[in-house]
Amino acid sequence: MKIKNICCIGAGYVGGPTMAVIAQKCPEIKVTVVDINEKRIAAWNDDDVNNIPIYEPGLSEIVGEARGRNLFFSTNVDEAIDQADMIFISVNTPTKTYGIGKGMAADLKFIELCARQIARVSKNDKIVVEKSTLPVRTAEALKNILDNTGNGVNYQILSNPEFLAEGTAVQDLLNPDRVLIGGDIASEKGKEAVQALVDVYATWIPQKNILTTNVWSSELSKLTANAFLAQRVSSINAMSQLCEVTGADVDEVARAVGKDSRIGPKFLQSSVGFGGSCFQKDILNLVYISKSFGLNEVADYWEQVIIMNNHQKRRFAGKIVKTLYNTVAGKRIAILGWAFKKDTNDTRESAAIYVTDYLLNEQADIVVYDPKVRKEQIYADLEYLGTHSLEEIKERVTIVSSALDASKDAHAVAVLTEWDEFKKLDWETVYKGMLKPAFLFDGRRILESKTKVGIGFEFYAIGS
Ligand code: UDX
Ligand code: ADP
Repeated sequence: MKIKNICCIGAGYVGGPTMAVIAQKCPEIKVTVVDINEKRIAAWNDDDVNNIPIYEPGLSEIVGEARGRNLFFSTNVDEAIDQADMIFISVNTPTKTYGIGKGMAADLKFIELCARQIARVSKNDKIVVEKSTLPVRTAEALKNILDNTGNGVNYQILSNPEFLAEGTAVQDLLNPDRVLIGGDIASEKGKEAVQALVDVYATWIPQKNILTTNVWSSELSKLTANAFLAQRVSSINAMSQLCEVTGADVDEVARAVGKDSRIGPKFLQSSVGFGGSCFQKDILNLVYISKSFGLNEVADYWEQVIIMNNHQKRRFAGKIVKTLYNTVAGKRIAILGWAFKKDTNDTRESAAIYVTDYLLNEQADIVVYDPKVRKEQIYADLEYLGTHSLEEIKERVTIVSSALDASKDAHAVAVLTEWDEFKKLDWETVYKGMLKPAFLFDGRRILESKTKVGIGFEFYAIGS
């Protein structure tokens, strides 16, 4: 079976870049990305490719090349489903904020809506691909809805988890360590469907890097990979606190540990805490699934990764308060960086949100600068926590368009995202503009201590 027409439901951080790369690499396949969010689709279709809604290095060039040729963005979901032989579901699956599993389980309502829409519209056989991160056994639920509400068409469900990391999404899609495809490999039709997707990826990815498994292994592998990665960050962050009290340096420890080829050097960068749309959500998912099977020890084991991460964010904010003579009330604190990591405009679960919220509890005046995040997003992130009213947030939080503006007249500057421009900042000028003593807190360990102390800063880096 050769795929000629792909539809992707969800034009977000996963669907957008993934489909852009598939379209670029497979010019014979028509790829249509649909979304119910009209503004988002309009931005994807903006004449100036620099205005696409997602910032990812290299992405606008690829969209520029494929858009209008075989890559289309549309709000006409029904039409795209009808025409497609393969449908990717890339809608968001946030953690539930209500009811059973609140704060833990993934909210599958968007997925279910998609399934019902596919069932309603489809007139011929479809391969449906789960691209969003989903709890194990979601494919089964999907199949149930499709088989019981559909028009008698045959559906094959595949799990094809996304391993791209934001900020490096394009590179990760072009040269992935592996592509994972789960399907009903016990049946002929299932095998055919898996092969059809393998053939799409094999256009540019070596066969040896394309793994096929049963659906449940594929779904669980995604959660496991993210849990292992997040665990490394929490492990090194736990050590950062121990380093601070013992006089060890967390970078030196990470270097020494990472040289062991069994451990490896990646994901040992101590920080103010991991963020992003996946790590916390996937681990909470794992915890919830484990508990629902009565595996309490397994659940507790993984939950500790989250507990450590929350501790790290609180600890960093607490350090600021403590250092500023136990009060930040009415003091101006500059937050440099709002995105959950550099090279993305995504802010989901960013440590900056929680650190700022904590400082707002202490009645600090906050000034934020991030090179890629929009002002409305910052306000929305803080409001979403529900601890402060939008009115109060707007009164206490100012958003400015440069790091120098943010630090002017500040009591303290805190670096919360590792944007390259913060390394190259004119720190002498920052220092001159600040109140004295001028406190500088590095939550990402991107600044060199010696030169900052040389300038006159009272300098603190997490893990030293
Ligand atoms: C992650 C996975 O890496 C990716 O495979 C999956 O598909 C989605 O989730 P992402 O969330 O985009 O990707 O970013 P990632 O690079 O994994 O970083 C997550 C968080 O951990 C960021 O806040 C980052 O700053 C932090 N981190 C990462 C550290 O604090 N230290 C590290 O050493 C690595
Ligand atoms: P991710 O990081 O998983 O890509 P995003 O939130 O960036 O998550 O993107 C998910 C997109 O899916 C959003 O743009 C949202 O509007 C879209 N979406 C959610 N439900 C539906 C639906 N039923 N039909 C079409 N698009 C949907």
